[in-house]
Amino acid sequence: MDGRWPDSRGFLLCLAVSLLLQGRGNTFTINCSGFDQHGVDPTIFQAVFDRKAFRPVTNHSIPTRVNISFTLSAILEVDAQLQLLTSFLWIDLTWDNPSISWNPEECVGINKLSVSAEHLWLPDIFILESMNVNLTPSGFTTFISSEGRVKYSIPMRVTSICNLDIFYFPFDQQNCTLTFCSFLYTVDSMVLGMDKEVWEITNLSRKVIWTRGEWELLSINKATPKLSVGTNLYDQIMFYVAIRRRPSLYIINLLVPSGFLVAIDAFSFYLPAEGQNRAPFKITLLLGYNVFLLMMNDLLPATGTPLISVYFALCLSLMVASLLETVFITYLLHLATTQPPPMPQWLRSLLLHCTSPRKQSPTVPQEGSKSLGLSPTHLPGLKEPVELVGKEPGPREAGLRVCPEPMRAQPDHEAQKQRLVELWVQFSHVMDTLLFRLYLLFMACSIITVIVLWST
Ligand SMILES: *[C@@H]1O[C@H](CO)[C@@H](O)[C@H](O)[C@H]1NC(C)=O
Ligand SMILES: *[C@@H]1O[C@H](CO)[C@@H](O)[C@H](O)[C@H]1NC(C)=O
Ligand SMILES: *[C@@H]1O[C@H](CO)[C@@H](O)[C@H](O)[C@H]1NC(C)=O
Ligand SMILES: *[C@@H]1O[C@H](CO)[C@@H](O)[C@H](O)[C@H]1NC(C)=O
Repeated sequence: MDGRWPDSRGFLLCLAVSLLLQGRGNTFTINCSGFDQHGVDPTIFQAVFDRKAFRPVTNHSIPTRVNISFTLSAILEVDAQLQLLTSFLWIDLTWDNPSISWNPEECVGINKLSVSAEHLWLPDIFILESMNVNLTPSGFTTFISSEGRVKYSIPMRVTSICNLDIFYFPFDQQNCTLTFCSFLYTVDSMVLGMDKEVWEITNLSRKVIWTRGEWELLSINKATPKLSVGTNLYDQIMFYVAIRRRPSLYIINLLVPSGFLVAIDAFSFYLPAEGQNRAPFKITLLLGYNVFLLMMNDLLPATGTPLISVYFALCLSLMVASLLETVFITYLLHLATTQPPPMPQWLRSLLLHCTSPRKQSPTVPQEGSKSLGLSPTHLPGLKEPVELVGKEPGPREAGLRVCPEPMRAQPDHEAQKQRLVELWVQFSHVMDTLLFRLYLLFMACSIITVIVLWST
Protein backbone atom coordinates (compact mmCIF):
# COMPACT_ATOMS: atom_id res chain seq x y z
CA MET A 1 0.00 0.00 0.00
CA ASP A 2 2.87 2.34 0.81
CA GLY A 3 4.44 1.90 -2.60
CA ARG A 4 1.46 2.84 -4.76
CA TRP A 5 2.00 6.59 -5.00
CA PRO A 6 5.74 7.08 -4.75
CA ASP A 7 5.54 10.66 -6.13
CA SER A 8 4.25 12.56 -3.10
CA ARG A 9 5.83 12.07 0.29
CA GLY A 10 3.39 14.45 1.96
CA PHE A 11 0.43 12.55 0.66
CA LEU A 12 1.96 9.33 1.94
CA LEU A 13 2.38 10.78 5.38
CA CYS A 14 -1.22 12.00 5.40
CA LEU A 15 -2.40 8.59 4.31
CA ALA A 16 -0.38 6.84 6.98
CA VAL A 17 -1.71 9.15 9.69
CA SER A 18 -5.27 8.76 8.52
CA LEU A 19 -4.89 4.97 8.34
CA LEU A 20 -3.46 4.96 11.83
CA LEU A 21 -6.28 7.07 13.18
CA GLN A 22 -8.85 4.97 11.46
CA GLY A 23 -7.27 1.76 12.78
CA ARG A 24 -7.24 3.17 16.27
CA GLY A 25 -10.81 4.21 15.90
CA ASN A 26 -11.78 0.73 14.87
CA THR A 27 -10.37 -0.87 18.00
CA PHE A 28 -12.95 0.84 20.18
CA THR A 29 -16.00 -1.29 19.87
CA ILE A 30 -18.14 0.67 22.29
CA ASN A 31 -19.57 4.02 21.20
CA CYS A 32 -19.21 6.39 24.12
CA SER A 33 -22.19 8.50 23.29
CA GLY A 34 -24.23 6.47 25.74
CA PHE A 35 -21.88 7.23 28.64
CA ASP A 36 -22.62 10.16 30.86
CA GLN A 37 -22.32 11.05 34.49
CA HIS A 38 -25.67 9.48 35.30
CA GLY A 39 -24.86 6.06 33.99
CA VAL A 40 -24.50 3.99 30.92
CA ASP A 41 -27.07 3.42 28.26
CA PRO A 42 -27.55 -0.39 28.18
CA THR A 43 -28.14 -0.45 24.47
CA ILE A 44 -24.50 0.26 23.68
CA PHE A 45 -23.51 -3.02 25.36
CA GLN A 46 -26.36 -4.94 23.81
CA ALA A 47 -24.21 -6.38 21.07
CA VAL A 48 -21.77 -7.68 23.66
CA PHE A 49 -24.51 -9.08 25.87
CA ASP A 50 -26.13 -10.84 22.94
CA ARG A 51 -22.92 -12.71 22.25
CA LYS A 52 -22.41 -14.00 25.77
CA ALA A 53 -23.00 -17.57 24.70
CA PHE A 54 -19.76 -17.56 22.70
CA ARG A 55 -16.17 -17.28 23.68
CA PRO A 56 -15.23 -13.65 22.96
CA VAL A 57 -12.47 -13.77 20.38
CA THR A 58 -11.60 -12.08 17.16
CA ASN A 59 -9.77 -15.12 15.85
CA HIS A 60 -10.89 -18.56 17.00
CA SER A 61 -7.46 -20.06 16.76
CA ILE A 62 -6.22 -17.76 19.51
CA PRO A 63 -6.86 -19.25 22.96
CA THR A 64 -8.32 -17.09 25.70
CA ARG A 65 -5.88 -16.58 28.49
CA VAL A 66 -7.48 -16.73 31.93
CA ASN A 67 -5.40 -15.63 34.88
CA ILE A 68 -6.28 -17.33 38.12
CA SER A 69 -5.50 -16.40 41.65
CA PHE A 70 -7.15 -17.03 44.95
CA THR A 71 -6.97 -16.17 48.61
CA LEU A 72 -7.53 -18.82 51.20
CA SER A 73 -9.61 -17.00 53.76
CA ALA A 74 -10.53 -19.83 56.09
CA ILE A 75 -9.84 -23.46 56.79
CA LEU A 76 -13.18 -24.60 58.07
CA GLU A 77 -12.94 -28.30 58.54
CA VAL A 78 -10.68 -31.24 57.92
CA ASP A 79 -12.62 -34.46 57.97
CA ALA A 80 -10.32 -37.44 58.27
CA GLN A 81 -13.11 -39.94 57.99
CA LEU A 82 -14.48 -38.66 54.69
CA GLN A 83 -11.06 -37.38 53.61
CA LEU A 84 -12.39 -33.91 52.94
CA LEU A 85 -10.99 -30.45 53.40
CA THR A 86 -13.50 -27.64 53.65
CA SER A 87 -12.05 -24.24 52.97
CA PHE A 88 -13.22 -20.84 51.95
CA LEU A 89 -11.66 -19.25 48.89
CA TRP A 90 -11.87 -15.89 47.22
CA ILE A 91 -11.23 -16.69 43.61
CA ASP A 92 -10.11 -14.06 41.10
CA LEU A 93 -10.38 -14.73 37.40
CA THR A 94 -9.14 -12.29 34.78
CA TRP A 95 -9.45 -12.55 31.02
CA ASP A 96 -9.63 -10.31 27.99
CA ASN A 97 -12.85 -9.74 26.10
CA PRO A 98 -11.80 -8.25 22.75
CA SER A 99 -15.33 -7.23 21.86
CA ILE A 100 -15.33 -4.64 24.63
CA SER A 101 -13.16 -1.56 24.52
CA TRP A 102 -13.74 2.14 24.65
CA ASN A 103 -11.74 5.28 24.78
CA PRO A 104 -11.86 6.63 28.33
CA GLU A 105 -10.89 10.12 27.20
CA GLU A 106 -13.97 10.38 25.06
CA CYS A 107 -16.16 8.72 27.62
CA VAL A 108 -16.19 11.26 30.44
CA GLY A 109 -13.12 9.64 31.99
CA ILE A 110 -14.79 6.34 32.76
CA ASN A 111 -12.23 3.55 32.51
CA LYS A 112 -13.91 0.88 34.60
CA LEU A 113 -17.46 -0.41 34.65
CA SER A 114 -19.17 -3.03 36.70
CA VAL A 115 -21.42 -5.33 34.77
CA SER A 116 -23.54 -8.10 36.13
CA ALA A 117 -21.82 -11.41 35.51
CA GLU A 118 -24.89 -13.07 34.10
CA HIS A 119 -24.72 -10.85 31.00
CA LEU A 120 -21.22 -11.83 30.04
CA TRP A 121 -19.39 -14.88 28.87
CA LEU A 122 -17.63 -16.55 31.83
CA PRO A 123 -14.88 -19.13 31.68
CA ASP A 124 -15.93 -22.48 33.08
CA ILE A 125 -13.11 -22.84 35.57
CA PHE A 126 -13.73 -25.41 38.25
CA ILE A 127 -11.76 -27.17 40.94
CA LEU A 128 -11.09 -30.77 40.11
CA GLU A 129 -11.10 -31.99 43.70
CA SER A 130 -14.21 -30.12 44.66
CA MET A 131 -17.25 -32.00 45.84
CA ASN A 132 -19.63 -29.05 45.54
CA VAL A 133 -21.98 -29.45 42.64
CA ASN A 134 -23.21 -25.87 42.52
CA LEU A 135 -19.80 -24.38 42.18
CA THR A 136 -20.37 -21.02 40.60
CA PRO A 137 -22.61 -18.85 42.71
CA SER A 138 -24.78 -16.44 40.76
CA GLY A 139 -25.53 -12.80 41.27
CA PHE A 140 -22.00 -11.46 41.24
CA THR A 141 -20.66 -8.64 39.19
CA THR A 142 -17.61 -8.31 37.03
CA PHE A 143 -15.42 -5.33 36.44
CA ILE A 144 -14.58 -4.40 32.89
CA SER A 145 -11.75 -2.06 32.08
CA SER A 146 -11.64 0.14 29.01
CA GLU A 147 -9.21 -2.27 27.31
CA GLY A 148 -11.73 -5.10 27.68
CA ARG A 149 -10.08 -6.86 30.61
CA VAL A 150 -12.75 -8.58 32.66
CA LYS A 151 -12.14 -9.27 36.33
CA TYR A 152 -14.43 -11.70 38.08
CA SER A 153 -14.14 -12.36 41.79
CA ILE A 154 -16.22 -14.89 43.63
CA PRO A 155 -16.17 -16.23 47.15
CA MET A 156 -16.52 -19.95 47.32
CA ARG A 157 -16.85 -22.55 50.00
CA VAL A 158 -14.91 -25.47 48.64
CA THR A 159 -15.19 -28.98 49.99
CA SER A 160 -12.40 -30.81 48.31
CA ILE A 161 -11.08 -34.32 48.43
CA CYS A 162 -7.75 -34.46 50.12
CA ASN A 163 -5.64 -37.48 50.80
CA LEU A 164 -5.28 -37.11 54.56
CA ASP A 165 -2.71 -39.11 56.42
CA ILE A 166 -3.41 -39.11 60.13
CA PHE A 167 -0.66 -41.48 61.18
CA TYR A 168 1.23 -38.67 62.91
CA PHE A 169 -1.86 -37.22 64.58
CA PRO A 170 -1.77 -34.80 66.44
CA PHE A 171 1.56 -33.72 64.96
CA ASP A 172 0.43 -34.12 61.39
CA GLN A 173 0.75 -31.98 58.31
CA GLN A 174 -1.53 -32.32 55.37
CA ASN A 175 -0.87 -31.48 51.77
CA CYS A 176 -4.10 -30.84 49.90
CA THR A 177 -4.34 -30.14 46.21
CA LEU A 178 -6.65 -27.63 44.54
CA THR A 179 -6.57 -28.06 40.78
CA PHE A 180 -8.07 -25.29 38.70
CA CYS A 181 -9.07 -26.51 35.31
CA SER A 182 -11.47 -25.73 32.50
CA PHE A 183 -14.33 -28.15 32.23
CA LEU A 184 -14.78 -27.83 28.51
CA TYR A 185 -12.09 -25.86 26.76
CA THR A 186 -8.92 -27.57 25.68
CA VAL A 187 -5.56 -25.84 25.38
CA ASP A 188 -6.52 -24.71 21.87
CA SER A 189 -9.23 -22.48 23.29
CA MET A 190 -8.15 -21.67 26.79
CA VAL A 191 -4.87 -21.38 28.60
CA LEU A 192 -4.56 -20.72 32.29
CA GLY A 193 -2.01 -18.45 33.85
CA MET A 194 -1.31 -16.45 36.93
CA ASP A 195 -0.78 -12.76 37.35
CA LYS A 196 0.48 -13.15 40.90
CA GLU A 197 3.34 -15.12 42.26
CA VAL A 198 2.41 -18.03 44.42
CA TRP A 199 4.22 -16.59 47.44
CA GLU A 200 2.03 -13.51 47.18
CA ILE A 201 -1.00 -15.76 47.43
CA THR A 202 0.51 -17.48 50.45
CA ASN A 203 1.35 -14.24 52.22
CA LEU A 204 -2.02 -12.69 51.55
CA SER A 205 -3.81 -15.83 52.71
CA ARG A 206 -1.75 -15.95 55.89
CA LYS A 207 -2.61 -12.34 56.59
CA VAL A 208 -6.28 -12.66 55.79
CA ILE A 209 -7.10 -16.08 57.16
CA TRP A 210 -9.92 -15.81 59.66
CA THR A 211 -9.73 -19.09 61.40
CA ARG A 212 -7.28 -19.28 64.27
CA GLY A 213 -8.47 -22.78 64.99
CA GLU A 214 -6.90 -26.12 64.72
CA TRP A 215 -5.19 -25.67 61.39
CA GLU A 216 -2.45 -23.33 60.36
CA LEU A 217 -1.47 -22.54 56.79
CA LEU A 218 2.13 -23.50 56.09
CA SER A 219 2.66 -22.84 52.42
CA ILE A 220 1.13 -22.93 48.98
CA ASN A 221 3.01 -24.32 46.01
CA LYS A 222 1.95 -24.74 42.44
CA ALA A 223 2.53 -26.97 39.49
CA THR A 224 1.17 -26.68 35.96
CA PRO A 225 1.01 -30.08 34.34
CA LYS A 226 -1.35 -30.48 31.40
CA LEU A 227 -4.23 -32.85 31.87
CA SER A 228 -4.75 -35.22 29.01
CA VAL A 229 -8.08 -36.94 28.63
CA GLY A 230 -8.21 -39.13 25.54
CA THR A 231 -6.90 -37.01 22.71
CA ASN A 232 -7.74 -33.75 24.42
CA LEU A 233 -5.27 -31.73 26.36
CA TYR A 234 -6.51 -29.44 29.11
CA ASP A 235 -4.57 -26.73 30.83
CA GLN A 236 -4.61 -26.83 34.60
CA ILE A 237 -2.96 -25.22 37.59
CA MET A 238 -2.45 -27.26 40.72
CA PHE A 239 -2.02 -25.56 44.04
CA TYR A 240 -0.60 -27.60 46.89
CA VAL A 241 -1.90 -26.21 50.14
CA ALA A 242 0.15 -27.41 53.08
CA ILE A 243 -1.52 -27.09 56.46
CA ARG A 244 -0.40 -28.10 59.91
CA ARG A 245 -2.44 -29.02 62.96
CA ARG A 246 -1.91 -27.05 66.12
CA PRO A 247 -1.29 -29.87 68.59
CA SER A 248 -1.54 -28.07 71.93
CA LEU A 249 -5.14 -29.14 72.58
CA TYR A 250 -4.21 -32.76 72.10
CA ILE A 251 -1.02 -32.52 74.09
CA ILE A 252 -2.88 -31.07 77.05
CA ASN A 253 -5.91 -33.32 76.82
CA LEU A 254 -4.46 -36.59 75.61
CA LEU A 255 -0.74 -36.98 75.99
CA VAL A 256 -0.09 -35.33 79.33
CA PRO A 257 -2.82 -37.12 81.36
CA SER A 258 -1.89 -40.40 79.81
CA GLY A 259 1.77 -39.82 80.61
CA PHE A 260 0.90 -38.93 84.21
CA LEU A 261 -1.10 -42.10 84.69
CA VAL A 262 1.70 -44.25 83.37
CA ALA A 263 4.22 -42.43 85.55
CA ILE A 264 2.06 -43.06 88.61
CA ASP A 265 1.81 -46.66 87.58
CA ALA A 266 5.57 -46.90 87.39
CA PHE A 267 6.01 -45.25 90.78
CA SER A 268 3.49 -47.58 92.35
CA PHE A 269 6.13 -50.29 92.15
CA TYR A 270 7.65 -48.60 95.16
CA LEU A 271 4.66 -49.61 97.23
CA PRO A 272 5.82 -52.63 99.26
CA ALA A 273 4.98 -55.89 97.59
CA GLU A 274 3.96 -57.40 100.91
CA GLY A 275 1.43 -54.67 101.57
CA GLN A 276 -2.10 -55.18 100.40
CA ASN A 277 -2.20 -51.79 98.66
CA ARG A 278 -0.31 -52.25 95.48
CA ALA A 279 -2.79 -54.35 93.51
CA PRO A 280 -5.89 -52.26 94.37
CA PHE A 281 -3.95 -49.13 93.55
CA LYS A 282 -3.04 -50.46 90.13
CA ILE A 283 -6.56 -51.63 89.46
CA THR A 284 -7.83 -48.15 90.28
CA LEU A 285 -5.31 -46.65 87.90
CA LEU A 286 -6.33 -49.05 85.17
CA LEU A 287 -9.99 -48.16 85.67
CA GLY A 288 -9.14 -44.48 85.62
CA TYR A 289 -7.23 -44.93 82.41
CA ASN A 290 -10.14 -46.71 80.78
CA VAL A 291 -12.51 -43.91 81.74
CA PHE A 292 -10.01 -41.42 80.34
CA LEU A 293 -9.83 -43.32 77.05
CA LEU A 294 -13.61 -43.46 76.79
CA MET A 295 -13.92 -39.75 77.36
CA MET A 296 -11.17 -38.82 74.95
CA ASN A 297 -12.35 -41.12 72.22
CA ASP A 298 -14.16 -38.43 70.27
CA LEU A 299 -11.04 -36.28 70.11
CA LEU A 300 -9.35 -38.96 68.08
CA PRO A 301 -9.76 -39.31 64.33
CA ALA A 302 -12.47 -41.82 63.56
CA THR A 303 -10.56 -43.74 60.95
CA GLY A 304 -7.13 -45.20 60.52
CA THR A 305 -4.64 -46.09 63.18
CA PRO A 306 -2.73 -43.01 64.20
CA LEU A 307 0.40 -43.40 66.22
CA ILE A 308 -1.40 -41.95 69.23
CA SER A 309 -3.72 -44.97 69.35
CA VAL A 310 -0.68 -47.19 69.43
CA TYR A 311 0.67 -45.04 72.22
CA PHE A 312 -2.56 -45.41 74.21
CA ALA A 313 -2.61 -49.15 73.65
CA LEU A 314 0.98 -49.24 74.81
CA CYS A 315 0.17 -47.33 77.99
CA LEU A 316 -2.76 -49.61 78.67
CA SER A 317 -0.70 -52.74 78.12
CA LEU A 318 2.03 -51.38 80.38
CA MET A 319 -0.55 -50.90 83.11
CA VAL A 320 -2.02 -54.34 82.59
CA ALA A 321 1.44 -55.87 82.59
CA SER A 322 2.31 -54.12 85.84
CA LEU A 323 -0.93 -55.33 87.41
CA LEU A 324 -0.18 -58.89 86.31
CA GLU A 325 3.29 -58.55 87.75
CA THR A 326 1.84 -57.45 91.07
CA VAL A 327 -0.51 -60.42 91.06
CA PHE A 328 2.38 -62.73 90.33
CA ILE A 329 4.57 -61.30 93.10
CA THR A 330 1.71 -61.42 95.57
CA TYR A 331 1.16 -65.02 94.67
CA LEU A 332 4.84 -65.82 95.10
CA LEU A 333 4.92 -64.16 98.49
CA HIS A 334 1.80 -65.92 99.55
CA LEU A 335 3.24 -69.25 98.46
CA ALA A 336 6.51 -68.52 100.19
CA THR A 337 4.95 -67.69 103.49
CA THR A 338 2.32 -70.44 103.62
CA GLN A 339 3.75 -73.56 102.04
CA PRO A 340 7.15 -72.92 100.48
CA PRO A 341 7.94 -75.59 97.91
CA PRO A 342 11.47 -76.99 97.99
CA MET A 343 13.81 -74.67 96.17
CA PRO A 344 15.98 -76.15 93.44
CA GLN A 345 19.65 -76.05 94.26
CA TRP A 346 20.59 -74.00 91.19
CA LEU A 347 18.01 -71.39 92.06
CA ARG A 348 19.23 -71.23 95.63
CA SER A 349 22.84 -70.74 94.60
CA LEU A 350 21.84 -68.23 91.95
CA LEU A 351 19.83 -66.31 94.50
CA LEU A 352 22.64 -66.33 97.01
CA HIS A 353 25.01 -65.23 94.32
CA CYS A 354 22.73 -62.41 93.20
CA THR A 355 21.88 -61.09 96.61
CA SER A 356 25.26 -61.39 98.23
CA PRO A 357 26.37 -57.83 97.40
CA ARG A 358 23.20 -56.70 99.20
CA LYS A 359 22.91 -53.74 96.95
CA GLN A 360 19.58 -54.46 95.43
CA SER A 361 17.52 -51.88 93.73
CA PRO A 362 15.36 -49.48 95.70
CA THR A 363 12.33 -51.55 94.87
CA VAL A 364 13.31 -54.41 97.13
CA PRO A 365 11.05 -53.35 99.93
CA GLN A 366 13.11 -51.54 102.46
CA GLU A 367 11.87 -53.42 105.47
CA GLY A 368 12.93 -56.74 104.06
CA SER A 369 16.36 -55.73 103.03
CA LYS A 370 16.99 -53.75 106.16
CA SER A 371 15.98 -56.51 108.47
CA LEU A 372 18.06 -58.88 106.43
CA GLY A 373 21.06 -56.79 107.10
CA LEU A 374 20.18 -56.25 110.73
CA SER A 375 22.03 -57.75 113.61
CA PRO A 376 20.55 -60.72 115.44
CA THR A 377 18.91 -58.44 118.00
CA HIS A 378 15.68 -59.06 116.17
CA LEU A 379 16.11 -62.76 116.35
CA PRO A 380 14.19 -63.45 119.50
CA GLY A 381 11.10 -62.53 117.60
CA LEU A 382 11.55 -65.60 115.52
CA LYS A 383 10.90 -68.14 118.15
CA GLU A 384 7.66 -69.44 116.72
CA PRO A 385 8.07 -69.66 112.98
CA VAL A 386 5.42 -72.31 112.61
CA GLU A 387 2.77 -70.07 114.01
CA LEU A 388 3.83 -67.25 111.76
CA VAL A 389 3.81 -69.44 108.74
CA GLY A 390 0.38 -70.67 109.55
CA LYS A 391 -1.33 -67.31 109.36
CA GLU A 392 -1.39 -64.53 106.81
CA PRO A 393 1.80 -62.58 107.35
CA GLY A 394 1.95 -58.83 107.35
CA PRO A 395 4.88 -57.16 105.72
CA ARG A 396 6.55 -56.46 109.00
CA GLU A 397 6.34 -60.02 110.10
CA ALA A 398 7.63 -61.22 106.81
CA GLY A 399 10.52 -58.88 107.14
CA LEU A 400 11.24 -59.89 110.67
CA ARG A 401 11.15 -63.51 109.85
CA VAL A 402 14.05 -63.15 107.52
CA CYS A 403 17.21 -63.87 109.34
CA PRO A 404 20.63 -64.88 108.22
CA GLU A 405 21.64 -67.20 111.05
CA PRO A 406 18.60 -69.02 112.34
CA MET A 407 20.22 -72.33 113.16
CA ARG A 408 21.38 -71.86 116.67
CA ALA A 409 19.07 -73.14 119.32
CA GLN A 410 16.17 -74.30 117.25
CA PRO A 411 15.16 -77.65 115.98
CA ASP A 412 16.56 -78.45 112.58
CA HIS A 413 13.28 -78.87 110.82
CA GLU A 414 11.84 -75.51 111.79
CA ALA A 415 15.07 -73.78 111.05
CA GLN A 416 15.20 -75.26 107.63
CA LYS A 417 11.65 -74.27 106.90
CA GLN A 418 12.38 -70.79 108.15
CA ARG A 419 15.35 -70.63 105.87
CA LEU A 420 13.25 -71.76 102.94
CA VAL A 421 10.60 -69.12 103.60
CA GLU A 422 13.27 -66.53 103.78
CA LEU A 423 14.78 -67.65 100.53
CA TRP A 424 11.44 -67.60 98.75
CA VAL A 425 10.66 -64.14 100.03
CA GLN A 426 14.02 -63.02 98.85
CA PHE A 427 13.37 -64.65 95.52
CA SER A 428 10.06 -62.78 95.22
CA HIS A 429 11.79 -59.51 95.85
CA VAL A 430 14.46 -60.23 93.32
CA MET A 431 11.79 -61.13 90.81
CA ASP A 432 9.92 -57.94 91.63
CA THR A 433 13.02 -55.87 91.04
CA LEU A 434 13.85 -57.68 87.87
CA LEU A 435 10.38 -57.32 86.42
CA PHE A 436 10.25 -53.68 87.43
CA ARG A 437 13.48 -53.06 85.57
CA LEU A 438 12.14 -54.87 82.54
CA TYR A 439 9.02 -52.76 82.76
CA LEU A 440 11.05 -49.57 82.91
CA LEU A 441 13.20 -50.71 80.03
CA PHE A 442 10.22 -51.55 77.89
CA MET A 443 8.50 -48.29 78.79
CA ALA A 444 11.60 -46.24 77.93
CA CYS A 445 12.07 -48.08 74.64
CA SER A 446 8.49 -47.70 73.54
CA ILE A 447 8.22 -44.05 74.54
CA ILE A 448 11.48 -43.24 72.77
CA THR A 449 10.26 -45.08 69.69
CA VAL A 450 6.98 -43.17 69.65
CA ILE A 451 8.73 -39.83 70.15
CA VAL A 452 11.24 -40.57 67.41
CA LEU A 453 8.45 -41.55 65.05
CA TRP A 454 6.54 -38.39 65.88
CA SER A 455 9.46 -36.08 65.43
CA THR A 456 10.31 -37.38 61.97
C1 LIG B 1 -22.03 7.11 18.29
O1 LIG B 1 -23.44 7.12 18.27
C2 LIG B 1 -24.05 8.38 17.94
C3 LIG B 1 -25.52 8.22 18.02
O2 LIG B 1 -25.93 7.49 19.10
C4 LIG B 1 -23.58 8.77 16.54
O3 LIG B 1 -24.08 10.06 16.26
C5 LIG B 1 -22.07 8.81 16.46
O4 LIG B 1 -21.65 9.06 15.16
C6 LIG B 1 -21.51 7.46 16.92
N1 LIG B 1 -20.04 7.56 16.90
C7 LIG B 1 -19.26 6.65 16.36
C8 LIG B 1 -17.78 6.89 16.47
O5 LIG B 1 -19.72 5.71 15.81
C1 LIG C 1 -5.86 -16.35 13.32
O1 LIG C 1 -4.65 -16.58 14.00
C2 LIG C 1 -3.80 -17.52 13.38
C3 LIG C 1 -2.61 -17.74 14.28
O2 LIG C 1 -2.34 -16.67 15.09
C4 LIG C 1 -3.39 -17.00 12.04
O3 LIG C 1 -2.56 -17.94 11.39
C5 LIG C 1 -4.63 -16.75 11.21
O4 LIG C 1 -4.28 -16.16 9.97
C6 LIG C 1 -5.59 -15.85 11.94
N1 LIG C 1 -6.82 -15.77 11.19
C7 LIG C 1 -7.42 -14.59 10.92
C8 LIG C 1 -8.67 -14.64 10.13
O5 LIG C 1 -6.96 -13.52 11.30
C1 LIG D 1 -2.06 -12.58 32.98
O1 LIG D 1 -0.88 -12.41 33.70
C2 LIG D 1 0.26 -12.11 32.89
C3 LIG D 1 1.42 -11.99 33.82
O2 LIG D 1 1.66 -13.16 34.46
C4 LIG D 1 0.02 -10.84 32.12
O3 LIG D 1 1.12 -10.60 31.28
C5 LIG D 1 -1.23 -10.97 31.29
O4 LIG D 1 -1.51 -9.75 30.67
C6 LIG D 1 -2.40 -11.35 32.19
N1 LIG D 1 -3.57 -11.60 31.35
C7 LIG D 1 -4.78 -11.31 31.78
C8 LIG D 1 -5.88 -11.63 30.86
O5 LIG D 1 -4.98 -10.83 32.88
C1 LIG E 1 2.72 -31.51 48.38
O1 LIG E 1 2.69 -32.56 47.43
C2 LIG E 1 3.27 -32.24 46.16
C3 LIG E 1 3.15 -33.42 45.22
O2 LIG E 1 2.38 -34.41 45.72
C4 LIG E 1 4.70 -31.80 46.34
O3 LIG E 1 5.24 -31.40 45.09
C5 LIG E 1 4.78 -30.65 47.32
O4 LIG E 1 6.13 -30.31 47.55
C6 LIG E 1 4.14 -31.04 48.63
N1 LIG E 1 4.17 -29.91 49.52
C7 LIG E 1 4.62 -29.98 50.76
C8 LIG E 1 4.65 -28.74 51.56
O5 LIG E 1 4.99 -31.03 51.23
